[in-house]
Amino acid sequence: MPDYIIGPIAELHSLAGGAGLRRGERMRDTGVVRDVAIAVIDDKVAEIGPAHEIIRRYDLSKNPAGLVTPGLVDAHSHICWAGDRAEEFLRRSRGESYEDIAAAGGGILSTMRATREAKTRDLAQNIGRRAHMMRYTGSTTVEVKASYGLSPDACMRELDAIHIARDLTTTRLVPTFMGAHAFPPDYSKEEYLDLLCDEMIPMAAAHRAMPRFCDVFCEVGAFSVDESERVLRAGLESGLKPKIHADEFNALGGVEMACAMGAVSCDHLLVTTTSGRRALEESATAAVLMPGTAFYLGKPYADARALVDSGCAVALGTDFNPGSSMVRSMALTIGLAVAKQGLTPEEALTAATVNSAAAIDADTGRIEVGLPADIVAWQCRTLAEFVWQYTYIRAERVYGGA
Ligand code: NIG
Ligand code: FE
Repeated sequence: MPDYIIGPIAELHSLAGGAGLRRGERMRDTGVVRDVAIAVIDDKVAEIGPAHEIIRRYDLSKNPAGLVTPGLVDAHSHICWAGDRAEEFLRRSRGESYEDIAAAGGGILSTMRATREAKTRDLAQNIGRRAHMMRYTGSTTVEVKASYGLSPDACMRELDAIHIARDLTTTRLVPTFMGAHAFPPDYSKEEYLDLLCDEMIPMAAAHRAMPRFCDVFCEVGAFSVDESERVLRAGLESGLKPKIHADEFNALGGVEMACAMGAVSCDHLLVTTTSGRRALEESATAAVLMPGTAFYLGKPYADARALVDSGCAVALGTDFNPGSSMVRSMALTIGLAVAKQGLTPEEALTAATVNSAAAIDADTGRIEVGLPADIVAWQCRTLAEFVWQYTYIRAERVYGGA
């Protein structure tokens, strides 16, 4: 794209102020300014200033805009999968629980079967299409877990698919290896843990898709705290940073264990207790919340207000997956965080940009001079209007991309 001006802008939330997790008061300062413009030269932010000055100084095409924010960062998604779970959704609507369906061999294992059967090219196309659709609701960076293969061959094909998908979308994809999403029926638990820790994790860490994180589902019916710790330690030995799904249905102590290990993030936290919150407060670990999961499953939301008030660094993700969250919109996610979880619009925007970026080691989620343009102009004029319209809000234009 040639050089251009974004502006005049009605309301810009730049989130300028450097990378890294923000907490407390810093989550409420989005760097809001009005009647400004951004000059973009060589795909980088060259200058941000009063609209009339920028427009006078640069002889470039103008793009008038209402609300402008950094591209949103989805810190937790499972967009690498095939098949569908429509039948399970109907079973849940008739009263069966997510946990019962999983225990009966459905759930994650049903998506495992469909994902294993899919051709790598088709998986890549699924990822590319989903990541591209996420841009319409403002996401420009999306973490994607290889989480349904659950065998050495199928997990490597998932990573192949993620790598191939990078050529199919301008959304930045940040891969995470999650061979520990469920125990597959092909092996005994002991066998799978050995295979995972001794072979699959080192293979994943060396894969050309370059996953940065090792994730585990610490839950009743999935991995215990001790098993989770073993998986995350194996990840660390191969250079993968720890992430954990914890306290989604039961608070088992996974949060406390992962924080003590220096995990990059603890994700879900629907049922986190004071002790989990304290561990998060005292650590450099991000608390990644996915209100779409509670919304989709009809469960109580994570206590985001208490987490922010006690000084935890809250980030946001969609958890987009075929079982527990078909929510793919980070705009909807921000709205849910405000409407259902008591965050202010500024806290939710900070969580969905600079904090989500820090939770996946991405240098995005900010509009700052010198950084690549990674900017969304929204179909509304203010952040207040954005959250008011959160069930529908769309990006008007997305600038920049991978
Ligand atoms: O993040 N919690 C575990 N995994 C997913 C659900 C995956 C599925 O049902 O397919 C989640 O909610
Ligand atoms: Fe998840």
